[in-house]
Formats: sequence, C-alpha cells, structure tokens
Amino acid sequence: MAYDLLIEDATILSSRGRLVADIAIEGDRIAYVGTRPAGRAKEKMSAIGKFVMPGIIDTHVHFRSPGYHHKEDWATGSRAAVSGGVTTVLDMPNTDPLTIDLEGLAIKRELAATESRANYGIWAGATGDNVDSLNRMIEAGACGIKIFMSGSKPPLLVPPEALERIYKETHGLIGVHAEDQGVLAARFAEFQSQENPAHHVVRSDLAAEEAVKTLIALVREHKRHTHICHMSSAAEIHLLDPTRGVLPITVEACPHHLFLSTDTTASMGNRTKCNPPIRPELDRKAMWTALKRGRVDTIGSDHAPHTLEEKALPYWEAPSGIPGVETSFPLMLSAIHHGKLSLERMVGLMSEAPAKIFGLVNKGEIATDRDADLVLFTEGVLRRFERQQVLSKCGWSPFIGRELGPKPELVLVGGRKVSQRGEILDDDSRGTEVQIQSR
Ligand code: DOR
Ligand code: ZN
Ligand code: ZN
Repeated sequence: MAYDLLIEDATILSSRGRLVADIAIEGDRIAYVGTRPAGRAKEKMSAIGKFVMPGIIDTHVHFRSPGYHHKEDWATGSRAAVSGGVTTVLDMPNTDPLTIDLEGLAIKRELAATESRANYGIWAGATGDNVDSLNRMIEAGACGIKIFMSGSKPPLLVPPEALERIYKETHGLIGVHAEDQGVLAARFAEFQSQENPAHHVVRSDLAAEEAVKTLIALVREHKRHTHICHMSSAAEIHLLDPTRGVLPITVEACPHHLFLSTDTTASMGNRTKCNPPIRPELDRKAMWTALKRGRVDTIGSDHAPHTLEEKALPYWEAPSGIPGVETSFPLMLSAIHHGKLSLERMVGLMSEAPAKIFGLVNKGEIATDRDADLVLFTEGVLRRFERQQVLSKCGWSPFIGRELGPKPELVLVGGRKVSQRGEILDDDSRGTEVQIQSR
C-alpha cells in the first residue's frame, strides 16, 4: 500500500493544543496521523516549522446573487475561498437560485457540484409559509434553515407571526439574521427624507436587540438549536450572556464586525454598508471581549461580493454586504500577531466549532479517516494587503491597505493541492457536498 502524500513533521493544531507529527493522505482522506508511518508514500513533503490546521469552514457566504451574472459565481467565489484557506463554504438561500424548495436546492447543488473548488453545503431558506419545503430540504441534506427576520428581500423575509410555526414544525439547525422588522420600519420612516444618513444610526442596535429577545423566548419555548448569525453589538452580547450553557444558542461573529468600526470606515461610503451595520468602536471592542470570554462560537465571513459600481450608488439604492471569504484567515492571523487570540482558539472558531455545530461529517479535525481538507501555513510577517491579491470577482475588499497575515502556504481540499500562497494551483478540482449528521 502506498499513501498518495505524506506531510512530515507538521505542527498540527487543534483547539486543545499542538502536536508535531506526520499526516498521511490516501485519496480524499487522512489515512494516518503519527510518527513515520510504515507504508510507502508516492510523494513526501516536509512541513518542518509549519502549522497545519483542518480546513476552514465558512458557514456564511452569499456566492451568486439572483439575476446578477456579472457578479461572483461559484467558480470565482470558491477560488477566493480556497486561496484564503476556506475549504468548505455553506451558501445562504438568498442567492441564485433561491433555495426555498427542493427544486431550487437541486439546481444550486448542480451549480456548486460543477463549479465549486471548495466543498459546499446549502442552506434552506424560510419564507414564512414553506414549512413543508423546509423539512423536505433538510431531509434532502440542506445544512440548516435560515431565517431572515430582516436583511433580505421577499420571499426570504419571514414575517414575525410566522416564526413560531417554523420553530414548532420544522427540524434541523436554525440560523438567523436577527434584526427586528418593526424597529427597522420605524427607523426607515424616520430617516427616509435624508439622502445620506449614517447606516448604523438608521439600523440601530435596537433592531438587533429586539430580534435577539424574540429569539431567546422562542428557543426557551421550543428548545431548538439556534445559531445567531453575525452578532455585532454590545446589546446582543449582554442579552445572550446569561443564556450560555442554559439554552441551545450558538453565535457567529464576522471579521468585518471585529476589524471595522464607524471610526475607521468614514471614508468608505457605501462600500462598508452591510447588515447588521458596522457599528461604533464600543461595539467592536465588546465583540473582542465576547470572543475572548468564549461567547463567540464561529467566525463566518458573510461574504457578500457586491461590485464597486453598485456600491457607488446613492445610500438608499446601494446593496448591503462586504466581501470577506478570502480575508478571514489573514485577518485572524493579524489578530494573533497582536496577541488578541491564540492559534488554537482560531482553529476552534474557524474549523472545529463550525463542523460540530452544523454536524458536518468527517470535517473540522485532523485525524484518521477524516477528510483531507488541510491548511498549511506559517504565521509569517504582516504585509499590506493589495488589490491585486483579491481573487473574488468583485475585485475589492475593505481591508486593502491593511497589514494582514499571509494567505496559506498550501491548501488541500479532499487531498488535492488547490492553492498556494494565494494563487490557484489546481483549477480542475471540485469540492464535494457536506454530509450532515442526523440529529
Ligand atoms: O450585508 C448583508 N448582505 N447582510 C445580509 O444579511 C445579506 C447580504 C447579502 O445577501 O448581500
Ligand atoms: Zn445576514
Ligand atoms: Zn449574510
């Protein structure tokens, strides 16, 4: 028997610590982890002085916008992903085609299977009256049910009165965009006469706070695991804190809420318009405190690659969203460099917890028989992130000009070397769909 690849003397990271060992890969699986396996290897690679972590799982991307084919697609989005160490993406239901029924799910699956360089999973989207479809999509392997309390357009905008029914009659993990429609409607009415109001003032944290209150009550009653997407404010942290370990609620943080605030984005106009909004420094700092205190479970990018042309539209017309699938890892490395978290914690937030929370079979761990999705990297030195490094089709990032860590030295998806130092090595390889453990 011969292994396909033997990675020797790697410093293997997990949330529990680090271990220097060899990783043998056979096909798309890890065949062995330990010292000097007995079998032969077709190819050997020294990883002395290099870290290896399980592939990053970004459970929150919006790859292909409906009707906008000049924008990101699965090929361009997944190239950007793998270049930044993201070996698995879970795509949101408000992309093309909408995944609100089995037909949409089948079409999106086909698209991803044909074009995605990363492994993928697909969210089912709640509309308020598609409970049966949601259950069918979950049975057919969708990774979770996404509820937009706001932050998307109809049909993916769930009216408040439909929430109870979704909590009562569906199964699977629930992920929520938590901003209260009532609060937002009142804010829009108040600000509509202004041409260019401050987005975080229009979309005040009160909207997030009210929505999270509603969710806590629903989870308390129905005991359904709820993953709060993009927590962004001190107000939400305060509400969620006492529910830790008491209610089945987990929390996602996005790099843009950890690394940007209204203090640093004043000159960026609508480019940094996103929902929930970039908030004042106080909220950003609270997010880091929450992360350090274990109140954040996963890092997801909420990659929403709108073009600069669209972002140049007037405030009320410009789409919300920030590209980020390829910068999450370099940003987190920069935070590690500044002592804000450890490498081990990063692995927990970006690989282990996403795999565990979503029940992704054979992911999030470097061990025998797990999928060979691996990220080899060195901490490197921080460098100015340049526009030419952006692989997303949108061609921009709010982090251009910042000092970031390097993209990974090498990224393996299913045992294949797909990217190296930010460039695509193998454009022919395709990811596979995640399998979800039954609950
Ligand atoms: O800023 C955002 N953009 N937030 C969302 O929740 C949706 C996303 C998009 O689809 O563009
Ligand atoms: Zn959202
Ligand atoms: Zn989103």
